[in-house]
This record gives sequence, C-alpha cells and structure tokens, in this order.
Amino acid sequence: MARSDCVRQRLRPTLGVAPWRLRHQPVRRYAGGLFHLSATTMNRVLAHTGARYPILQAPMGWIARAPLAAAVSRAGGLGVIESSSGETANCQAEIAKMRATGLPFGVNLPIRFLGDDAILRFVCASGLRFVTTSAGSPAKFIRPLKDAGITVYHAVPTVDTALKCVDAGVDGLVVEGAEGGGFKNPEEVSTLVLLQAIRARVDVPMIAAGGICDGRGMAAAFACGAEGVQMGTRFVSCAESPVHANYKNAIVAAKETGTWVLNKKSTPCIRALKSERTGAIHAAGLMPADSFEGLQALYFGGDMEAAPALAGQTAGLIDAVKSAQDIIEQTVSEFFAITERLGALANARVFG
Ligand SMILES: Cc1cc2nc3c(=O)[nH]c(=O)nc-3n(C[C@H](O)[C@H](O)[C@H](O)COP(=O)(O)O)c2cc1C
Repeated sequence: MARSDCVRQRLRPTLGVAPWRLRHQPVRRYAGGLFHLSATTMNRVLAHTGARYPILQAPMGWIARAPLAAAVSRAGGLGVIESSSGETANCQAEIAKMRATGLPFGVNLPIRFLGDDAILRFVCASGLRFVTTSAGSPAKFIRPLKDAGITVYHAVPTVDTALKCVDAGVDGLVVEGAEGGGFKNPEEVSTLVLLQAIRARVDVPMIAAGGICDGRGMAAAFACGAEGVQMGTRFVSCAESPVHANYKNAIVAAKETGTWVLNKKSTPCIRALKSERTGAIHAAGLMPADSFEGLQALYFGGDMEAAPALAGQTAGLIDAVKSAQDIIEQTVSEFFAITERLGALANARVFG
C-alpha cells in the first residue's frame, strides 16, 4: 500500500493539531532543542524547525541570504538560505554565517537547479535540522538528508505532486498556491484550495505559501489545515531585504491586480509585477530566454525594467516597508486576535 494511502487511513479529525486551541506562548529562546512542550506537540512545524513562530521567510535567489534570514530568525520566525542562485561557495558562506548566529534557520535546495551535489553534501555535514526542497523530485535527496538527521519539507503546487512526495518519505510539505511570486505551476491553483485538497488526502504538516503576508492570511491558512506559513513577497519588501528601494516601493505601490502570470506555455512560468517589460511578455505570450540576465541590475541597481520583478498578489496588501520584527509581531498578534474572535463565535454558536 502506498504511504499516502496509509496516511489517509490514519487521518484524524484533529489533524494532529487543533489551531483553535493554540495559545500565544511566552517568548522562548532557541536553546539546543529546548522548546515549550505544548507548542511543539500541538504544532509540528515548530517542532521541526525550532523557531518560536511557524512563520518562514521564503527562499529567494540572492535575496534570502544571512542578513535577511538572521533578521527573520532573530524576530522568532525561520530564516531560510537560498541556493537557487547557483553560487555554491557564496551560499555555503551564508550558511556558515547563519550557524555562527546560533539562531534556528533552514536551507532550500532547488533540485533541478543544483549543478552538482556539493551544496547537498555541505548541508548534510553542517548540523542543520531543517531543509526545504523544491523544483523536481525530492526522492533521491531524502535518504542523505534524513541520514544526516535533517527534516525535509518539499514545495508542491498540486495534490498529485504532494502525494508522490509523501510516498517518497518527506516529513512535510510547503504548499505553494498560484497567488505567490516567483516560479509557478502554469495550472494555477489557489493556496486556499490546494491546502484543503491536500489536507483531505494526507496528514503531513503543511506550510502554506502564496498570498500570505499577515495574520489574516495566516489564520485562513491554518483554518485550511496549515501549521505554518511562508512569505516571499512580504520579506522581499521588508527593511532588512537587500533589494533596491525601487523594488520595495514598487511592491508597496502595486494593487492586488498588479502582477502577471507569464510564460504559461513554456518554462519557467512566473508571477511578476506589471511593468513595461512584463506587459510585453504578457502580450507576446512567451518570455525571451535572456529575460533574467538583468536580474542583478533589477535587484540591486533598482532598474525595474531590467528583468521581470518577481512578486505575488500580496503586493496589493502590502502598504509599507516594515522591519522583519514588526512583520512577525504584527502577524502573530493579528493571528491570535482573529482565532480568538472565531473561537468566541464557535462558543456562542451564533448560528446553527
Ligand atoms: C522575488 C522572489 C524570488 C523568488 N525566488 C525563489 C527561489 O529562488 N527559489 C524558490 O524556491 N522560490 C522562490 N520564490 C518563491 C518563494 O519561495 C515563495 O514560495 C513565494 O514567494 C510565496 O508567495 P508570496 O510571494 O505570496 O509570499 C521567489 C519569490 C519571490 C517573490
């Protein structure tokens, strides 16, 4: 019997966590695996990551490096170091910097984009406890990572991929809906639908990604079975993000209709901010192969027409550049305000 079928048979009504019973835990320091017992037993993402809050900063090539990841982890979330830039030596140095902080953090391994297994071997030897994999089958990565004692979550855009990953032995899933920025599945499924569809089939912990930038989004994701959230667009535009102010300001200025999904008939399919350049790609229906050659000029030079500026629909919700600490504290307090209000609704049985 496939593992996903076994898991489905074991599906419990509470899904291993009862979000409405979560309580705001007092601030806990990461101290070699000593966490507040009730929080970690009720929330598997906390248990797996060692973070104070189940809020991850998304992996983003060149952007998700030590300054941003450390700011997020210091604020109680989980910073994640990228390796999709393909700059193995630089990514190894960023991982070493994060280790030196003593803060919990993760690393992303985008399988299809790794030229060799150098970064995999480095990660396995680094004493890390949490890795996300993406872009390709995690099957051959799982054994070496698990042998090194690392927890593995794989990013999935569909139910079929989720079931294959669970059968392959991942510990959890990053469930990535079409609202998010970056590389996308051209068969667009929203985060809200995807979370529910996957939760109906398997009981592994899910981190929701795509369309979430605050406590409202986090509460909605938890209502659909998530035990954590990952934010990309929100953290690209945060104060500690290394990108140029023009990029952050363009996200702040954008409306909820301010992004295109581009290149749906080829690869990679992406979601990016509307601009002259992305408007032309949208009209043509295909993206020229050299479109990302100007990425550094966009990210760090602020030339918003140098390449597609990857961003998700939350650009329409983000109205200020904030520090990682403000983002995380406001997300957590908003999350608990909403879940408490919903709990009160349930207690009062206001309808039904
Ligand atoms: C600027 C930017 C760059 C990204 N680069 C990567 C990447 O290199 N690797 C990856 O796995 N995902 C990448 N993503 C996707 C994010 O990891 C994340 O899944 C997504 O941003 C979540 O949706 P949100 O933007 O609505 O928060 C990128 C997203 C953005 C906005």
